[in-house]
Amino acid sequence: MLDLFAGCGGLTRGFVDEGDFRSSGAVEFDRSAAATYAANFDPTGTHTFAGDIADFRDVPPVDLVIGGPPCQGFSALGRRDPADVRNQLWREFVRVVRDSDARMFVFENVDRFAKTPEFDLLRAAAGEGGQLADFRTQVFRLNAADFGTPQKRIRTIIVGSRIGPVSAPVASHARRPTANLPRWVTLREAFLSGPVVLDPGVRDEWLPESFLDFQGRSVPGAFKLRDLHVTKRYDLTSEIRYAHIAPGQSRLQLPEDLQYPCWRRDPVGRSDVLGRLRWDEPGVTIRTEFFKPEKGRFLHPQWENGGDQVNRALTHAEAAVVQGFDDRHVWCGSKAEIARQIGNAVPPPLARAIARVVGDRLTAA
Ligand SMILES: C[S@@+](CC[C@H](N)C(=O)[O-])C[C@H]1O[C@@H](n2cnc3c(N)ncnc32)[C@H](O)[C@@H]1O
Repeated sequence: MLDLFAGCGGLTRGFVDEGDFRSSGAVEFDRSAAATYAANFDPTGTHTFAGDIADFRDVPPVDLVIGGPPCQGFSALGRRDPADVRNQLWREFVRVVRDSDARMFVFENVDRFAKTPEFDLLRAAAGEGGQLADFRTQVFRLNAADFGTPQKRIRTIIVGSRIGPVSAPVASHARRPTANLPRWVTLREAFLSGPVVLDPGVRDEWLPESFLDFQGRSVPGAFKLRDLHVTKRYDLTSEIRYAHIAPGQSRLQLPEDLQYPCWRRDPVGRSDVLGRLRWDEPGVTIRTEFFKPEKGRFLHPQWENGGDQVNRALTHAEAAVVQGFDDRHVWCGSKAEIARQIGNAVPPPLARAIARVVGDRLTAA
């Protein structure tokens, strides 16, 4: 398979872990993300095209093309500008699917992609008279939590196939437990008894000094998941603010004297700012700046009134765990670059569920 807009390779991770898939190429123009991809899936570094997809011409023949163009153009958080050049990237996706002669494709994006003109255009491309006329598409709206990820994250998945339809990915977990399905994985389970247990008392601020050569340039890394268990130094007022916020609460519950002036003018909006996560639920959608508490609900869930408190945002390692990565994945780049890779990734457990139904179709054909 070929992964376009590959990022750190969250999507590939799920497909490779599912068994029968092998990556024969990836396209990613962020150098550190491309280095992360290569460190995990391309040991010789020769199959990873670290450049703009518009310049990617040597398309190898593959069975499957997977990929998720950047979502800022489509996401509710982005500018929602229909002329945004990023919205045109699906065209490049279509070109590469055609040039690769793939039998199937998987296109991933944010929930609201299904309501954009680009969504209709992509489906039209796979319709009568379109560039991918021999493909038929199926659309799935999937929540990563239903597939064993300790995170509520809803994504639109379009599966294109010219060898027949796939069955719907099968949920392994449910919001409320049923006779067949356990309830969603919580942060308590993920942090305290998951495959990677991380000490909440972390103090380290910096990644280790380590560099590797990626296509002739030096890139920080490759770091293990535990190396990413780093925090930052907060000023005292910030720590006092965080200490006032119980699980499920946010800046809205802060006493008047700890509010920023701009918040006082907006007493109800942006209710997730300085939000604290809850131990007994999955996390909320991890974004690229999860390490800044003012960017959302990213405060660590440990908080006892007057007792044991962890007054900081999630570490990079914790965010990667919430995204469903384990310690087999390694990472390259600066702290901010790695945070972007983590926040952009498709959770590998969700990718695995998709890989299973796509793999069944490819083997049956
Ligand atoms: C949403 S992320 C993909 C995440 C990935 N699917 C995963 O699971 O880890 C989109 C990626 O597209 C890359 N990108 C954006 N524009 C690009 C372009 N013109 N050519 C190549 N890559 C691009 C970004 O650097 C970003 O890493």
